[in-house]
Amino acid sequence: MILFKKITELTAFMDQQKQKGQSIGFVPTMGALHNGHISLIINPKKHDTITVSSIFVNPTQFNEAKDFEKYPVTLEKDIDLLEKNGCDVLFLPTVIEIYPDGLSNQPYYNLGYLETVLEGKYRPGHFQGVCQVVHRLLSIVQPHYLYLGQKDYQQCMVIKKLINLTELKTAVVIGNTLRESDGLAMSSRNMRLNEQERKKAVKIAETLFFIKKEIKPGYVGDLKERAQQYLLAENFKVDYVEIATADTLTIIENWDGKQPIVALVAAYLNEIRLIDNMLLN
Ligand code: PAF
Repeated sequence: MILFKKITELTAFMDQQKQKGQSIGFVPTMGALHNGHISLIINPKKHDTITVSSIFVNPTQFNEAKDFEKYPVTLEKDIDLLEKNGCDVLFLPTVIEIYPDGLSNQPYYNLGYLETVLEGKYRPGHFQGVCQVVHRLLSIVQPHYLYLGQKDYQQCMVIKKLINLTELKTAVVIGNTLRESDGLAMSSRNMRLNEQERKKAVKIAETLFFIKKEIKPGYVGDLKERAQQYLLAENFKVDYVEIATADTLTIIENWDGKQPIVALVAAYLNEIRLIDNMLLN
């Protein structure tokens, strides 16, 4: 694996690869890697594509300073994991390299409805930050394929919208959410959970499995309410338990039994905010 810290060196290398006719797959990350990330790294390998990953804890997407400060950093372990799993190139930029004009002087992306619901509503500015860094990274790496995890369902939709808005020529490939043996969705934030919190965290996945089992055509408001009560009873602070259309994330109260839908949850266990989602049909 070749490690680059400077954009100029990375782009010179990428240009050489493209001239050789190589196809490029890109997996952006904020580090603290787990098997969910690794499954995305392995994906381009199957298609004879050069795999580029980045590790950059992007300050502009954290709407709470404390969350940024406490974001887990496990760089040596990450480099080892990437290397062992066949990643070809790792981009490890500094903040100055990504944001030479400073953090506040950044473009605005018109994300419309997507920025007003769920994560957009509860984490103001978060998706602007995601777009700023992903736009910058895609402009640098210029990959043919961008690999994202379904665990961040709304983020996948936001990034597809960003690619549309900016007319970038990258195809998005979405990998399934990987789960621990008890069902907890793999996430870098799980590293912050203490033993007791870790045991409890699985209730979020249980809530989604419960919704999937119980959902029936007709009014779904009471099912959302029951699911939310389940988490509240376990002392979660719930931001939302919602059911939405899978393609536009329109929140629904009634379901015709046919439309593809997704359940989404965001809740705090003490200070740690966890999200998860599940396609229901
Ligand atoms: O999902 C993440 O890890 C981040 O939001 C991303 C896409 C790497 C942008 O910083």
